[in-house]
Amino acid sequence: MPRVVFQPGSRAVEVAAGERLLTAAWKGGVGIKSVCGGRGKCGSCLVELDPEASAAVALSPVCEQEQDLLPREAGGRTYRLACMAHVVDDAAIAIPPESEAVRSPPRKPFTVSRVASRPVVSRLTVAIEPATMADPVPLRTRIEHAVAAAAGRRTCSLPIPVLADYSREPGFDQKREVTATLYRGREVIQLLPGRREALYGMAADIGTTSVVVFLCDLARGEIVSVGTAANPQALYGEDVISRMTQVQREPESLDTMQRLLVDELNRLIREGAESAGIDVSDIVDAVAVGNPTMQHILLGINPEPLGRGPYLPILTEGAVADAAGLGLAIAPHARVFVFPMPSGYIGGDTLAALLTRGPEFYRGSQLLVDIGTNGEVVLAHDGGLAATSCATGPVYEGAHIRCGVRAAPGAIERVWVEADASIRWSAIPEPSGRRDPRPVGLCGSGVISSVAALVDAGILGSDGAFASSQAHPGLRANGSGIADELVLVPARRTRTGRDIVFTQKDVRSVQLGKAALRAGIELLLHKHGVDQLDRIYLAGTFGNHLEPEDILGIGLVPPVPVSSIRSIGNAAGDGARMALFDAHQRQRVIRLARRLQVLELSTRPEFQDVFVASTELSPAPLDVESLSEQV
Ligand code: FES
Repeated sequence: MPRVVFQPGSRAVEVAAGERLLTAAWKGGVGIKSVCGGRGKCGSCLVELDPEASAAVALSPVCEQEQDLLPREAGGRTYRLACMAHVVDDAAIAIPPESEAVRSPPRKPFTVSRVASRPVVSRLTVAIEPATMADPVPLRTRIEHAVAAAAGRRTCSLPIPVLADYSREPGFDQKREVTATLYRGREVIQLLPGRREALYGMAADIGTTSVVVFLCDLARGEIVSVGTAANPQALYGEDVISRMTQVQREPESLDTMQRLLVDELNRLIREGAESAGIDVSDIVDAVAVGNPTMQHILLGINPEPLGRGPYLPILTEGAVADAAGLGLAIAPHARVFVFPMPSGYIGGDTLAALLTRGPEFYRGSQLLVDIGTNGEVVLAHDGGLAATSCATGPVYEGAHIRCGVRAAPGAIERVWVEADASIRWSAIPEPSGRRDPRPVGLCGSGVISSVAALVDAGILGSDGAFASSQAHPGLRANGSGIADELVLVPARRTRTGRDIVFTQKDVRSVQLGKAALRAGIELLLHKHGVDQLDRIYLAGTFGNHLEPEDILGIGLVPPVPVSSIRSIGNAAGDGARMALFDAHQRQRVIRLARRLQVLELSTRPEFQDVFVASTELSPAPLDVESLSEQV
């Protein structure tokens, strides 16, 4: 089998001969951007072949379609598109920073806070009396009686698959001491010989772009490890629509996507367990949250119906599935609680974020906004709960932006224009703490910060058009003399040796994403008669790194005092852990899901007008009333 070594990271992957380089990379845990879903249309999967370290025929020949998307000036280097090149022989591949898959790893360590834990699982070690000729009670009955007595119940159930697993333990019928793991205090989901006290659980936050796995000590109420990775389904495109379309085109890719996701979760579980020194058989409970498409795919359910009217999930109340059935490498009969999903675009991640809000959220008019590839908005007003979702696109993850990169060291996260027109920036530092390394590109918060700074400095108009090319020395004009890009960082100061620019096309992408979110917020507020918000909570990794002044400046959210905007971090992950630690939270989230009134934007005739008005990059309030009267 050919062996491909990917840089950075020197990850070596064994590849089936003839496999697409893009597929091989993702299967090996190496994320390469794939904006068009690997159809040879976008050029985002550009990689470089090291001819010195690769066989002469390492990759299949370049076809015409690929040639059209390759850089015209390669400067003697061998570039290829990972989605078009097939692996023939051993190869060494370098992935440029701008082609690395976008993911949003937590940039700050999670707070390992202790919480009171009332888990849904418990462990009991019981003594098993041996069977005798005089008293020939079968083993199953003896275990059931011993466990029920220890749990203070009249009965408990011991399902056959659990017993069957236990019967594979050497000398299983001679054991005098057995540890039973109970689900909801009455059903045995695991039997292990001897005494086992450790009790761990896993919470997974499955985003379209990134996945985060938390391993938690359920007895102590603590996080013991956090792992994050890019969602390997990005192989099939960066948004949920591409993934649904892929399943429609090739039904068998549903299994591949489920497998890719579960393999990645298992890798994070294994690594987390190893670093925390725990045995995966002690992980006996799990919770998973994600948007409805991610939750459908995790459960192996076809997500296609989510993409067409009436945009209904196959199930709305959530699910409890066996870990082994999903392929998760924890205790095989551990139950995986998958959050409810009230509508096709409002899923468990939104509910998990909502779960983190206490009683203060229900006073006055408050908004919870989670900005990612999709934007979800929840309004609490007058004791009611309403939500909508907007197709913001991957622009906030730094994708679809010429110099967009993932939020990693070297990514510009803030931009300023000084009084003398010079442009300053700050980048995510190296883990070593070195400040402002040479930058590689713009991550999502850098994109928003750039737009806000350029509008504020008058380099960009509120209509999103660049000022005349004389307005700033960094502006460059196209063939018609119209300014269409601004050099933020010249090539001599970047790590890639290429200019970091912000283009007119980038601005338009930001405007579309911004307009989708703002229009959704406006229509939700309008429907519920809210014209003034008391507070806005920003959830999600991206929301956590936005400056309130920037998002108010370009009108991403309605006008409120800066102090009324609060970032609440990875709220979906926090909510998932709450449900892992506390059985009552699972009931609470089911009740929240039932209370949520979902506004489906595609049914609102005024959406288009509000959307167009929302493309304006300004903090002005919108007058939805008069916009809807024009319809
Ligand atoms: Fe789009 Fe390769 S050209 S992913």
